[in-house]
Amino acid sequence: MNILVTAGPTREPIDPVRFIGNRSSGKMGYEIASAFAREGHTVLLVSGPTSLDVPDGVDFLPIESANEMNEAVANHLGRMQVAVFAAAVADYTPSTVAKEKIKKSADAIMLELVRTTDILGSCRSEHGFAGTLVGFAAETENLIAHAREKLTRKQCDLIIANDVSKPGIGFESDQNEVTLVYPERIEQLPLASKHDLAHQLVRAILMLHAEKCAAN
Ligand code: CTP
Repeated sequence: MNILVTAGPTREPIDPVRFIGNRSSGKMGYEIASAFAREGHTVLLVSGPTSLDVPDGVDFLPIESANEMNEAVANHLGRMQVAVFAAAVADYTPSTVAKEKIKKSADAIMLELVRTTDILGSCRSEHGFAGTLVGFAAETENLIAHAREKLTRKQCDLIIANDVSKPGIGFESDQNEVTLVYPERIEQLPLASKHDLAHQLVRAILMLHAEKCAAN
């Protein structure tokens, strides 16, 4: 099967030397891409800047900004059966990018930010994607309620939810503890390395895809 995975942070440019970023290491998405490839699938990994090596057997499409990630997804989604959105995409980007490095002047300056496209949220509505759609939800409170809301709003088949307020899991960590939020049920997975967890997630996603195909 053809599988799309987004991973890593995005960088939203302010001027030629500055950007707005986030703490995503990309590890979870890279492990998922690698696990799908080891299962024999054709994987396209669309990734923001990370310090990770590209996993063996994975096609790699590097991007920087949310806008570039959106274009990459729009260009390739049509031939995918499964799409997994593990990237930490900036929700806002500077309204203008200065051509030259901004020099310091006043004691306080304002930076206007505008909304980026919700890439996962536009898969069904904009691109008519009919395959298996999986998103992540990184939350600091009301984990299940927020994940459920994202599942519905973004028309996903599964949301992989993690509580990023818990120490030692999620962003920048090698471990993660997630809850799988499906339309009809939830499943809590135990704390595991991102490597081991990726295998469990891939198995769950492939089973979900098989069920979805059987039902259609
Ligand atoms: N996502 C995306 N494009 C965006 C923002 C988020 O594709 N512009 C995807 C992420 O890759 C993730 C899911 O949407 O799979 C949820 O991301 P999150 O930031 O938790 O959700 P938001 O919709 O941005 O909601 P909020 O920030 O208000 O919690």
